[in-house]
Amino acid sequence: MGTKKLYRNMRLFTPVDGGRPLAGKEQANVKEIKKAAMLVAGGIIEKIGEEDEILKNVCPCEVALEKDFGGACVVPGFVDPHTHMCFAKRREDEFGMRLAGLPYLEILARGGGILSSVNAVKAATEDQLFETTKKLALSALAKGTTTVEIKSGYGLELGLELKMLEVIGRVGRETPLDVVPTFMGAHAVPQEYKGRADEFVDEVLVKQMLPKVKEQGIAEFCDVFCEEGVFSVEQSRRLLKAAKEMGFDTKIHADEVNDLGGAGLAAELATRSAEHLLAASEENLRAMGKAGSIAVLLPATAYSLKKPYARGRDMVDWGVPVAMATDCNPGSCFCESMPFIFGLGVMCMDLSVEEALTATTLNAAYALNRAKKLGSLEAGKQADFLVLDGETPTALAYHAGATSIEEVYKLGERVA
Ligand code: NIG
Ligand code: FE
Repeated sequence: MGTKKLYRNMRLFTPVDGGRPLAGKEQANVKEIKKAAMLVAGGIIEKIGEEDEILKNVCPCEVALEKDFGGACVVPGFVDPHTHMCFAKRREDEFGMRLAGLPYLEILARGGGILSSVNAVKAATEDQLFETTKKLALSALAKGTTTVEIKSGYGLELGLELKMLEVIGRVGRETPLDVVPTFMGAHAVPQEYKGRADEFVDEVLVKQMLPKVKEQGIAEFCDVFCEEGVFSVEQSRRLLKAAKEMGFDTKIHADEVNDLGGAGLAAELATRSAEHLLAASEENLRAMGKAGSIAVLLPATAYSLKKPYARGRDMVDWGVPVAMATDCNPGSCFCESMPFIFGLGVMCMDLSVEEALTATTLNAAYALNRAKKLGSLEAGKQADFLVLDGETPTALAYHAGATSIEEVYKLGERVA
């Protein structure tokens, strides 16, 4: 019996990893192999390429045919680099209020929104929170997400933030997904600190929470909601600088509703990424490109907030590496579907199919500092891949409202 698994007869599409996020014209750097084969050992791709070449150079004694895909289209598993899918209760009522014209930030200012999710997390047991989160994670997996980032941020006090991060870690251990945990205690100013955001940042987040989260080793990234009425650029700067000094990787919710200059801060601090950017200025976006900060675009949030989409086409043209994510959360965007994101990227932000594929796989893996192992189907990386219903990745935008995901593989094993 062979020890390596052979997958053959695939029509393969994968971005090509050149050791850094793909930007500008390179964002479309996707390779097609019409008849590809892949050898996998221990879940890791050992060889991948033209089937004839692979088969010629391998002894049948050391491989076992795992699957013949009959020419089906195969792409890397989606990496979703921005979600808040750890929450206890939906906010469908608020969605109705938004449809009736109440602005998203006004709901938050009245003590709803993120603050209502905080109350729900407080009321839920850890097991209940785990079950709601796991359900969404598995739904995302069935739609092709093989790696997901999940943020805390519906706790806003140490015990509850740690409770969320515990649950997020457990989702990683008890589902097939790779889960990347982010600490987002700076998601809103808690009601007890209303009007005292500076104190919350300096005394609670920086002095109390960050060191504890670091000590427990349960989050890799630190994120902040830099927005009018939430955290200012200056407060975000203090928090992210402190986080960096403690060894956290950093990201920022920047210019989602108003152009506060969050993208400029991302460039200044060279955060790994900046997310949303619906209202960001050209100058600050170009500065992000220079600093190598990845633009993580969340088109389903624009859809759900009924806002103009981020300028994805311009960002690619300006040399900013673009990734895309769901932003799955109970408020501004209840969506865990990366195929939907893919479709919006192509249809509403004018990305090409190749650019959208890079944005949802390789650049998304870079946004999570996981590109050494994930994001493209190349030797040395995990055999995380999807079989599509369609001839090419174009199907993901073409077949609107369908997921087009037929099979999902994680480390070479079929998981959905
Ligand atoms: O990315 N903007 C801040 N955070 C989320 C929304 C969270 C919520 O409304 O619960 C976002 O849009
Ligand atoms: Fe978000």
